[in-house]
Amino acid sequence: MSTANGTRDAAARDAAAARHPVLITGGAGFVGANLADRLLSAGRRVVVLDNLSRAGVEQNLMWLRSRHGDLLDVMVEDVRDARAVGVAVAGVGQVFHFAAQVAVTTSLTDPREDFTVNAQGTLNVLEAVRACRTPPGVVFTSTNKVYGALDDVPLVRDGRRWVPAAAELRERGIAESRRLDFHSPYGCSKGAADQYVLDYARSYGVPAVVFRMSCIYGPHQFGTEDQGWVAHFLIKAVEGRPVTLYGDGMQQRDILFVEDLVDAFLLAERDVRRLAGYAFNIGGGPRNAISLLELLDLIGAMHGDRPDTTFEAWRTGDQRYYVSDTRRFHGATGWLPRVPVAVGVEKLYRWLLASRGLPARSETARVESAAPLAAAGGPARPFDAGLEAR
Ligand SMILES: NC(=O)c1ccc[n+]([C@@H]2O[C@H](COP(=O)([O-])OP(=O)(O)OC[C@H]3O[C@@H](n4cnc5c(N)ncnc54)[C@H](O)[C@@H]3O)[C@@H](O)[C@H]2O)c1
Repeated sequence: MSTANGTRDAAARDAAAARHPVLITGGAGFVGANLADRLLSAGRRVVVLDNLSRAGVEQNLMWLRSRHGDLLDVMVEDVRDARAVGVAVAGVGQVFHFAAQVAVTTSLTDPREDFTVNAQGTLNVLEAVRACRTPPGVVFTSTNKVYGALDDVPLVRDGRRWVPAAAELRERGIAESRRLDFHSPYGCSKGAADQYVLDYARSYGVPAVVFRMSCIYGPHQFGTEDQGWVAHFLIKAVEGRPVTLYGDGMQQRDILFVEDLVDAFLLAERDVRRLAGYAFNIGGGPRNAISLLELLDLIGAMHGDRPDTTFEAWRTGDQRYYVSDTRRFHGATGWLPRVPVAVGVEKLYRWLLASRGLPARSETARVESAAPLAAAGGPARPFDAGLEAR
């Protein structure tokens, strides 16, 4: 087959895929609802498969339904049910597989439940995709927890945060070449799923991509102490209640506003056949890194009151430092996070107030207009450079 024909075939296949509905497992959740809203707003049909096990997420479905009506199809089903997953996958043009048991803490109390949802549920999705005559693209949301506690990374204190002692790591963050080191049952179940997704691309030619995501935040997030800490801290502030910090509060994370993540999903969907078989670290990167104590300061400036804090011991698998090196995905697609931390946190804060019918308590922090960030930590590596680590 000539290259021109191959290109035409791929274009025809992609156009056909765009006409088919998009399946989002876990689509009632925070990330899924934000992606669904973007797709539905563009006139695309979306099927959400979700068992509504996360408290509050039915509100996201009601919000989507009120905005998009019948363009949205909802299946209240469980990813552990292979038959239901097979029905959901048949006929869709793209799968975003987000349904998961999402908390390390819960995985420690019930590792079997965690395994069946995260590992077996993912296998169900992959098998359903493999059974299709033309397998749809798959984007799977893995986690930075697959890199373990990163205890071997020497850190130094920089004000109220821990940073790597090595300048290069400090400027760039953790790349995909970092060795895998699954910690906690959640790390193991998501890590196993991550590896299955990559292997289905390798062994069966399924066009599947893995996002190893850092902390995502934004509207429609029902953050708790166990997962979604940015939203959790803001909710505590809004409710006037104290926050418990596990560790010293100086742990550093790169946080990514959900709209930036949705941009990355759409690029991954567009290029899924070219990117198939690769994992990408996705987060705010070094320019959007913040410690827990620093976030509390920001919230204090925004809300007028900084939440009171109590300290508890570190929890299993807690990383003192994690910042994503996103240069591989940038090199592959040109993607960069656009929403700075102060802007994104304020958007989430305002959404939380509005969803509770509350007015803002103080003049909010001055917010600069969102501008594309320069490539964090130096120029992007070309996609084909350093592809040894999947
Ligand atoms: N939010 C983050 O910071 C973050 C970071 C890294 C990875 N992730 C991953 O991204 C994905 C989405 O996360 P989120 O923040 O939107 O979480 P979320 O809890 O808001 O959404 C997950 C959704 O999956 C559903 N679900 C859970 N078990 C299910 C099952 N057995 N069958 C069907 N549906 C089920 C829940 O009801 C929920 O609506 C997850 O896979 C998560 O592990 C999220």
